[in-house]
Amino acid sequence: MDSIPANRRLWNQISGAYQHKHDQRIGAAPRLWGMYSIPDADLRALGDVTGKRVLELGCGAGQWSRALAAEGAAVVGLDLSEAQLHAAAGAMGANRYPLVHGSAEQLPFAAESFDLVFCDFGGLSWAPPHLAVPQAARVLNRGGRLVFNVASPWFEACYDEAAGRVTTTLQQDYFGLGTIAEGDGATSYQLTYGGWVKVLRGAGLVIDDLIEPRPGLGTLNGYNETDPPDWAHRWPAELLWVTHKP
Ligand SMILES: C[S@@+](CC[C@H](N)C(=O)[O-])C[C@H]1O[C@@H](n2cnc3c(N)ncnc32)[C@H](O)[C@@H]1O
Repeated sequence: MDSIPANRRLWNQISGAYQHKHDQRIGAAPRLWGMYSIPDADLRALGDVTGKRVLELGCGAGQWSRALAAEGAAVVGLDLSEAQLHAAAGAMGANRYPLVHGSAEQLPFAAESFDLVFCDFGGLSWAPPHLAVPQAARVLNRGGRLVFNVASPWFEACYDEAAGRVTTTLQQDYFGLGTIAEGDGATSYQLTYGGWVKVLRGAGLVIDDLIEPRPGLGTLNGYNETDPPDWAHRWPAELLWVTHKP
């Protein structure tokens, strides 16, 4: 299915409100992963990026990209939404990096252009993984890494749509995960554990780690209500995949 037009429309519509609500938290410090803002210093997923060519797939307002540019990476921020790119351009600061309008499904880069491709609830949550993962693999150098954070199947299967929160009751079939309707035709994507392994290996990538970020007790989810509040301390809310191209 082609979710590009509807996802572009959605993110252009919500960009202002989204940044108003979340920018401060996402950008509070460099390298904060996911819904619970867990420092990469604790998770050790990304490694040293100094001098590396880095692509962020779905960079949003560029909170991650500008931090990596400041560390000395040659970063490119790609996003489907013009409004999100506008926000990234406005927040760029002294360490300039290029912003590219495009989609994770059809990356406008030559093969083997990057040492690291990554995202945090970006292009690999908002583009069909069976299209976006092979694209990411294509633009990676040999030895280059694809690192990305997405919601876990646990989190999605326990999401109570009517109540608007994650609970301890299974609400949706695990094997029924795949696409999530985000309104007005916009779609996000969610694979099972086996589905991710199949797509990653199918694109020729080697899985080095699957980190399950675990927030400390009392750490707030900046995006979704959970019941109980310490849900993600007890069950994995996110999957942080670390892979490389052999
Ligand atoms: C939740 S934000 C992630 C960005 C940042 N890490 C954050 O947490 O705000 C999702 C981003 O993915 C972008 N996006 C949606 N569909 C996309 C696609 N098919 N290709 C690339 N980016 C896409 C959206 O425009 C949005 O900026």
